[in-house]
Parts: sequence; structure tokens; C-alpha cells
Amino acid sequence: MTIRALRGNPPAPQVSQSEPLPLTTRMRRNRKTDWSRRMVRENTLTVDDLIWPLFLIDSSQARTPVSTMPGVDRLSIDEAVREAERAARLGIPALAPFPYVDPALRDPVGSEAENAHNLMCRAVRAIKAAVPEIGLITDAALDPYTSHGHDGVMSEDGRILNDPTVAILCRQALALAEAGADCIAPSDMMDGRIAAIRETLDNAGLTDTQIMSYAAKYASAFYGPFRDAIGTKATLIGDKRTYQMDPANTDEAIREVEIDIAEGADMVMVKPGLPYLDVCHRVKATFGLPTFAYQVSGEYAMIEMAARAGAIDGERAMLESLMCFKRAGCDGVLTYFAPRVAEILTARR
Ligand code: PBG
Repeated sequence: MTIRALRGNPPAPQVSQSEPLPLTTRMRRNRKTDWSRRMVRENTLTVDDLIWPLFLIDSSQARTPVSTMPGVDRLSIDEAVREAERAARLGIPALAPFPYVDPALRDPVGSEAENAHNLMCRAVRAIKAAVPEIGLITDAALDPYTSHGHDGVMSEDGRILNDPTVAILCRQALALAEAGADCIAPSDMMDGRIAAIRETLDNAGLTDTQIMSYAAKYASAFYGPFRDAIGTKATLIGDKRTYQMDPANTDEAIREVEIDIAEGADMVMVKPGLPYLDVCHRVKATFGLPTFAYQVSGEYAMIEMAARAGAIDGERAMLESLMCFKRAGCDGVLTYFAPRVAEILTARR
């Protein structure tokens, strides 16, 4: 056949009407209709699965945008209270606030973390007074408060010191719990901090304050936008590889979780989220305790920026990514998409 003949209008392809294939099982039958797809669906995403991380700033401006996280703003305390009211209306169970601390208040040992009247403690009191029914999960770690941006105390030769840091974390956790935080979430990856914080809380009579441990937290490139949001990107000296986990490891994550459970963690977290679903799955399968994932700032930015650039359908990608956490066995997800997802799920009901 000549090239010209090939380019001419080809005959319409013949759909064979002949004998059906001899298949006893046709997987597509259950996928044929919406009602059937809904009926066989194995996992569901609900508002109860969402924990909303938000950023606080001491500012007269209600909101200041985070440039690397389009759609996410740092909030004044008043604005955070309004968002907490909105979250409660939407049925979001809990918020996870993080502070942008005035650089003038940062020092090498993160002293401001222990201040019972710091931005976080004031926000916790204000939110609890206005919206007592919403859960407040507050981070214990020193990075927003240290001049070098590390989660712990740094020695003169640049090492991050474990045991002195744990002592400060205990005082930070106590200040937050006394301000009204429901759950302390240590994200620092120091050894022994869960036991020490549990003991500190118990000794203060705060036996009902929960602990959600960032048990398997990896030294990840996906935290970039978060460090913009809390203002540690420019100041961070070096990296966090001497305390956060190596992305190559999973057995080590199991050991971390096992130790934190033994020390008294009520719930555990894996972080980041989507690239670490194997870890989520293995943690849930091994221990069966409440297991959460943090869909971190870089994951949010990837989806949101790709959507804004027209490369993907943002709403579908957001919902798909969150469903995948459920499929992997997570009980819930910390996600910056929380209010948007809650609005969509509420409208669908
Ligand atoms: C630090 C902390 C980090 C995040 C939560 N707590 C960043 C880090 O370890 O540098 C990251 C969250 C995100 O990227 O969304 N204690």
C-alpha cells in the first residue's frame, strides 16, 4: 500500500459481534453503574477523618498569605477563632495550630516555647473559650522558637542535644496543656520525650491530656513550604538528619512506633504522607492503634500548584489523595485541604 492510500479515510473499525469470551468473572460488571460502584466501595472518606493544620501570627492584619502554599494564610488569633468556628460547623474534629514566632523572640534554646502567654497558648485559650467542642492538637518542638531553626537545643559544635531538649519540651507541653490543649503532638523526634511528657502531664494532674506522637517522622524535602510559613527556612542551619528518619527505612519506623507506644503514646503519626503510605500501612497492620498521616506542606503545594497551572483537576486530586490514606489504613489525615474537603463532603450529603 502506498503512503497516500494509508492517509486516506480508513474504513470504520469493525466491532466484533461474534462469540463472547468465555469469562466466568468480569470485574467490570460491578463498576458499570454509579449505584454499584458506591455499593462495592471498600473505603470512605468522611469529615471525621480530617485534622486541619493552621498557621498563627501575632499581627494586626487578619491574614497574611504563605507564598509557597497558595490558598493558605497565616492567621491572627481573632481570625483563627473564626476559622475554628467554621471548622466546628463543618464537623472537622480537630485543629493543629503552628506559630510564626516573631524573630525577635527566638533564641538558641527556644525559651519562648515555655512562655505560658506565648502566641500558641493565647490562641489555645481563645479558641477553647469560643469553640470548646473542637479538638486542639498542639505541636511540641522547638523549631518555631529557636534562632537556628532546629527542633532542639544546639551545642557549640552544632550537635542537637537530646536530653536537655526533652526537659524543655516537657515544660512546653505543660504550658500548652494548661492553656487547654487537648492533645500534645511531639514532632521533634528526640528520644524519650513521650515518656517524659507523659510523666510531666500526669504529675500536674493532666492525666486526660492525650499524646499523638509524630513517631515516624522522616527528614524530608517536602517540608519546604511549612518552613516558609513559620519562618524557619532562612534561618535553619544545616539539616535535621541527626534526629529525623532516613527516607530509606521502614523497620526503623516500626521500632520508633513500638517505643512510643511503650512510653505512653495514645496515637501515632507517620509524616510525610503520600510518599510513605507503605509505612502507614505497616504501622496500622502491626500495632492496630489509631494511626494518622500528615499530608505535609510540600504535598499540598504540589497538588495545588499543579491544579492552578491547569495540569491536573485539583478537586479530584485532593479527594483521591485523601482516599488513598484511608485505603492504606490511616484513621485520619492532617491536611491543609481540610476545610475545602469538608465543604465538598457536606454538600454531597
Ligand atoms: C517541625 C515540624 C515540621 C512540620 C511540622 N512540624 C517541619 C520540620 O520538621 O522541619 C512540617 C509540616 C509540613 O510540612 O506541613 N517540628
